Amino acid sequence: MSYTFPVTHTATPKEKPDETQLGFGRYFTDHMFIMDYDEGQGWHDGRIVPYEPISIDPASCVLHYAQMMFEGMKAYRTPSGDIQLFRPDMNFERMNRTNERMCIPAMEEDIFMSAITQLVDVDRDWVPSVQGTSLYIRPFIFGDEVSFSVLPAKRYRFMVILSPVGSYYAANDGGLSTTRIFVEDEYIRAAVGGTGFAKCGGNYAGGMRASKKAAEHQCKDVLWLDAAEHRYVEEIGTSNAFFMINDEVITAPLMGTILPGITRNSVIQLLKKWGIKVSERRLLIEDVVKAAKDGSLKEVFSSGTAAVISPIGCLYYKGEDNQVADGKVGPVAQKVYDTLYGIQTGAVEDDMGWTVKI
Ligand SMILES: Cc1ncc(COP(=O)(O)O)c(C=O)c1O
Repeated sequence: MSYTFPVTHTATPKEKPDETQLGFGRYFTDHMFIMDYDEGQGWHDGRIVPYEPISIDPASCVLHYAQMMFEGMKAYRTPSGDIQLFRPDMNFERMNRTNERMCIPAMEEDIFMSAITQLVDVDRDWVPSVQGTSLYIRPFIFGDEVSFSVLPAKRYRFMVILSPVGSYYAANDGGLSTTRIFVEDEYIRAAVGGTGFAKCGGNYAGGMRASKKAAEHQCKDVLWLDAAEHRYVEEIGTSNAFFMINDEVITAPLMGTILPGITRNSVIQLLKKWGIKVSERRLLIEDVVKAAKDGSLKEVFSSGTAAVISPIGCLYYKGEDNQVADGKVGPVAQKVYDTLYGIQTGAVEDDMGWTVKI
């Protein structure tokens, strides 16, 4: 069953930004989706309204105890002008897993899908078409009860906002390039039993200190190690990490500490389909360093909605640079990027059944 929510159109549509200068999260569309939840009543009063600031009570529990979650996905403009989503069912499933962990009430799939598709449809003129651009979709839920009790809220808000975003690789016309990554062996992101697998704001606030340190060392992002021993590789910033040693591609297993990326899952499926050996297993940073030194580390790349695939040319660990192969973009990363990005944007035929037209 799909829902049709009431729409209040804006009386003052904004001027559309230059599609070649979008950045990430700098511009927002004309409308947003809001739905409320009250204990005893469930999710109710979904509506599309003009995009505007919201008012919130200073004692609202989210501002103090951070009971919230968010998701991230994109709508793409295909060469024929259609608009399509990439595996939105997986964002929905991950949202409810986060909700369960954060004691936020579950939502039914039809509400989520109807909210996203109807809002993107209302603002469809905002989906950019320049190479490398897309419409970033940010659904989020927060506890909105006026209370200082450290207890799950009785009132929530579900909102969806949209932002036209540019190419992650804007500096070089959409082509891939490698980055230098800081291997973090002091701070941790998530421990087994914690909230690492959930997409909740606290995970990101707690990671900023390490990102700052990485930037101070001229690194683009942080490679997190496990919390218990600081020895096993986990994920990179807001993306999942893949290491190709000889002919095996290795990525961290889902043990509750990393975010189960939708791009990660897609990369694994594509590699398997192409007959490339891919393992979800624990990998020691010492083995990665050893492989970099003896030449068996062929490629390192990360995967996520923002950049799709981001190849890594160098890992900075304990004061030393470890170059990955020749430091350039590897053939596996390039092929995965071309295929995935091609499917997402409709340039490559979707034989995986991953795209949903709006
Ligand atoms: C911590 C973290 N890991 C991995 C990812 C990649 O997930 P996805 O491929 O679903 O974007 C993200 C981005 O959502 C993230 O925030």
